[in-house]
Amino acid sequence: MAGDSILSMFKKAEEAKAVDTSKKLRVGIIGTGWIAEAHIDSYKRMPDVEVVALADIIPGKAAAFAEKYGVPHAHIYGHHTEMLAAEELDAVSVCTYNMTHAECTIDCLNKGIPVLLEKPMCVTLEEAVEIRKAELKSGKVLSIGFQPRFDPNMQMIKKIVQSGELGEVYYIQTGGGRRRGIPGSTFIEKSTAGIGALGDIGCYSLDMVLNAIGYPKPLTVSAYKSDFFGTNPELYPKDAARFNVDDFAAAFIRLEGGIILDFRISWAMHMDTPGDTLILGKKAGLRIPSTDCWNGSVGGPMKIYRDVAGVCTQFEVPILGGGGNLFDKKVRSFLDAVKYNGTSPVPSSQIIRNQAILDGIVRSAELGREVEINIPDID
Ligand SMILES: NC(=O)c1ccc[n+]([C@@H]2O[C@H](COP(=O)([O-])OP(=O)(O)OC[C@H]3O[C@@H](n4cnc5c(N)ncnc54)[C@H](O)[C@@H]3O)[C@@H](O)[C@H]2O)c1
Repeated sequence: MAGDSILSMFKKAEEAKAVDTSKKLRVGIIGTGWIAEAHIDSYKRMPDVEVVALADIIPGKAAAFAEKYGVPHAHIYGHHTEMLAAEELDAVSVCTYNMTHAECTIDCLNKGIPVLLEKPMCVTLEEAVEIRKAELKSGKVLSIGFQPRFDPNMQMIKKIVQSGELGEVYYIQTGGGRRRGIPGSTFIEKSTAGIGALGDIGCYSLDMVLNAIGYPKPLTVSAYKSDFFGTNPELYPKDAARFNVDDFAAAFIRLEGGIILDFRISWAMHMDTPGDTLILGKKAGLRIPSTDCWNGSVGGPMKIYRDVAGVCTQFEVPILGGGGNLFDKKVRSFLDAVKYNGTSPVPSSQIIRNQAILDGIVRSAELGREVEINIPDID
């Protein structure tokens, strides 16, 4: 049988894995801002889901959202607690700004409702610990919204590392960002976002490499952060006065196993990129061209550097297609875990370490010295 026919057989088998629609999952969304649009678009493509409730503390916002996204029968609430008090839900998407991630997620879990929580997990390590405790107590699924996890190129990074091709990994340089790309809106104030570029895009760069190497425990961090661009009224006349989060950060992180993580992230700087991601192993090195990360893009073909018969060689890893809609995959993987008592697709047991690094970066930068990272034993 020709290779193409075999492939098409597998494809058909995959498509035939029909979704069981005998019971519709009653889903609620907390926070009807920008990212909630991606969630509802995906939920509407899922034949086993009915979006039955929407909550937003801004009066009229959830109702307008229901109208715009064609769910006029969804019940509308203000604060998330009103929704949780009134509804029996099978699952909830927490799509609020970072500062209310923890309270919304903990309240849902305490009510026994599984949660798809947008990234970053929250703002502080303390909050992440409380979320993890509530999750363990409830026994319900909690998945964190890192859609790049579902991109085949991102998955390839992990496969390469886990295959042993690089040998023992001892040093990683990662990060990403933009020359000018401060988002505005609720992203730039401590009262809503808590953290800036770190929480918006930094968590993705960290997840890309930490997931690849199996999320070792972070031990110490020495970090720097600044806000020279966001607070500059010549560059951002509309938003500079209210900007009070980081727009650039850099950190030197020691991980369990002696691995060094050299990290930088930028919303704005006088440079095009803070550099490619490099994963150095004792047998080979992997270069991942500088990327935005959030959409799963790897910025061009990755390269592996390895000695062959004593000669320094390098070769390209071709870009893989077939990623499909990453938001649909993120939502589907969560729903399947909920329906079939599966494990969380993007578990908080890993992401708590991502959050611990972000928390450590903020503490270290504010103290101006290296700090220890201590994640309490809760599992
Ligand atoms: N996965 C991605 O690609 C992606 C992209 C953008 C944003 N995000 C994440 O999504 C989150 C939201 O971002 P956004 O741009 O949609 O923000 P947003 O400010 O547009 O929307 C958040 C909404 O939550 C509401 N809200 C806050 N607390 C509430 C509560 N307790 N009860 C009810 N409503 C509440 C706010 O009123 C607001 O309308 C952020 O954490 C962000 O990091 C993820």
